[in-house]
Amino acid sequence: MPDRRPLVAGNWKMNGLRASNAELEALIAALKAGAPAACDVMIAPPFTLVMGFAAAADGSPVEIAGQDCSALAPGAHTGDVAATMLADAGASAVIVGHSERREDHRETDEGVNAKALAAYDAGLVAIICVGETEPERDRGETLEIVTGQLAGSVPDTATAANTVVAYEPVWAIGTGRTPTADDVAKVHAAMRAALVARFGDEAGNGIRLLYGGSVKPANAGELMGVADVDGALVGGASLKAADFDGIIDAYR
Ligand code: 13P
Repeated sequence: MPDRRPLVAGNWKMNGLRASNAELEALIAALKAGAPAACDVMIAPPFTLVMGFAAAADGSPVEIAGQDCSALAPGAHTGDVAATMLADAGASAVIVGHSERREDHRETDEGVNAKALAAYDAGLVAIICVGETEPERDRGETLEIVTGQLAGSVPDTATAANTVVAYEPVWAIGTGRTPTADDVAKVHAAMRAALVARFGDEAGNGIRLLYGGSVKPANAGELMGVADVDGALVGGASLKAADFDGIIDAYR
């Protein structure tokens, strides 16, 4: 069984101005002051802050990620940002296929797969998001939806080094509601089995599986303690350094 180092990643979504650099500095200070955390730490700010945050976090334990990238090479695509540009700005990873993008921009598994490939080509880790909606959950389709998205969104060339998968039940995002630890365990076990069946032992067992959706300092210990949960993708609670550091406490 490969040794999977947990990852606690903060997705700032469409939040953050230059003044938010103070929160990043506070997070870096908290990581230096606190007991060593046995996990990787990452912040995904909006595009406008990626370069500044990457410079500010240089030499610190905090890695910087983008929240999306184009599947295309640089060229005539107004408003889009290429994966190579994120890498050039200092990002080491990019989130692709977040449910908010699947919904707001009608992103499909096929499109997400292409974005992940662009990320690999740029040398970025792709954090690929999957998760069921509430009606799908109510119909008992959670495992089918999640494994289907996993099959479609994760490229054939995924490895433990270039891919992280985040399970984010759509109904748990920003709602304060979370699945039970048992429910999370079932989904993560199904994802792990699907990855091992497709990629074999090394990549299948090496790819990290994050849980996301209303992770807070108060529930992080329980959720991060679930089998096959290798960290968290955190939205709202990643915006304040103290809260985010309180989630990282799960690995201290
Ligand atoms: P919240 O932590 O705000 O529920 O958001 C989760 C999320 O969507 C992270 O990508």
